[in-house]
Order: sequence, then structure tokens, then C-alpha cells
Amino acid sequence: MQIFIDTADIEEIRDAAAMGVIDGVTTNPSLVAKTGRPFQEVLVDICEVVDGPISAEVVATDYEGMVKEARVLAKMHENIVVKIPLIPEGLKAVRTLTDEGIRTNVTLCFSPTQGLLAAKAGATYISPFIGRIDDIAGNGMELVEQLVTIYQNYGLTTQVLAASIRHPVHAVQASLIGADVATIPHKVILQLLKHPLTDIGLERFLADAKKIPAG
Ligand code: G3P
Repeated sequence: MQIFIDTADIEEIRDAAAMGVIDGVTTNPSLVAKTGRPFQEVLVDICEVVDGPISAEVVATDYEGMVKEARVLAKMHENIVVKIPLIPEGLKAVRTLTDEGIRTNVTLCFSPTQGLLAAKAGATYISPFIGRIDDIAGNGMELVEQLVTIYQNYGLTTQVLAASIRHPVHAVQASLIGADVATIPHKVILQLLKHPLTDIGLERFLADAKKIPAG
């Protein structure tokens, strides 16, 4: 499973990239707004740090507007993948952009039927929002499973990008199901790494190392 980092914070991206664990980055308007910086400036910085797919979302909701924004974003860097919302105008934009060779990440997916149509339209990635489904007492992981199965059944090449991941169990389940990618916040990436026995073990080794006589 590929791991993308779900943030627009350049320091978080630098930290995860230095560990060598991330294959790409996803952003959305809420994450960019949190940085307090202009969108394009943030994207330029991210493209300098990570050599992998970097999702940047359009804010238009009409076909012409989305295609126009997408073309500008795609021209900024070859790694930019354009995030398009899962609405009828969005699918029209995805079809046009796919035909132009521009990669898309179709976002805000909450049902298998939406995911099937996004794949038919030519989406490069589909983003099921696991945490937000769990938030309303649904089963977000079930959607990931359904999308993986549907795409496998028909040889659809759209990659399942598990999004809105909130904790390590989401990441484990997504990888067991066979999601192509999980996009994970920086905090959760660190949680994936953390183990108390590693910390206790290291503490003991370091304490014992001090008892070794100098040669
Ligand atoms: O990748 C989508 C993600 O940013 C949404 O996460 O936690 O706001 O539902 P969340």
C-alpha cells in the first residue's frame, strides 16, 4: 500500500519525507486554509519536497470552472493530481481531463455507486472518506472493501485511496483490504510508528550501555 500524507503543512511533509515513508501528498481547501498561506505558494513548496503524486483541489463547482482550474494546477508541476468533487459536473470534468492526460483524484466519495461512476469517468484515484462515514455511525471501511472488489471485478484501473483516516486501525484495515493508497495525517503516521516496547527496550539498552567498561 502506498502512503500519502494528508496535510498542507510543509514542516509535517518535510518530517515524513525525511523518514522515507511517504509516496505522495493530498491536500484539500480546509488543510490549505490552516496554513494561512496562498494555495499556489504552498503547492510549489510541496512539489519541491516530495517527488510523487500531489493532490490539489479545485474550488469551482461548474464544468468549465473545474476544467479551467485543473489545467492551471496541472501545468504547475507534473506531479500534480487534480482533486475533483464527486458531483455530476465533476464527472464531466474528470472525463475531459482524463482525455487530456491530466490525472484526477475524485473526492468526497461516500458510496459504492459514486465510486463506480467515478471509475467509469476515468478517475485516476477515488477517495472514500472513511472517518466521516464512521462519524455518522456508518462503516467507512466497508466502502473501501466494496470499491476494491468492484474495481477488481471489472478490471477498472482507478486506484482506491483510503482518505479521512483518523487512527492506526484505519490504516491497518485499509492495507488488509488491499486499498492501493492510504492518505494519513502526520499525527497518525507517527502513531503507526510508536510502540511502548520499542521505547522501553531502547531505554534499557542505553542504560546497560553505560555499564560497559571502557576498552
Ligand atoms: O483526505 C481527506 C481528509 O483530509 C478528510 O479528513 O479528517 O477531515 O475527515 P477529515
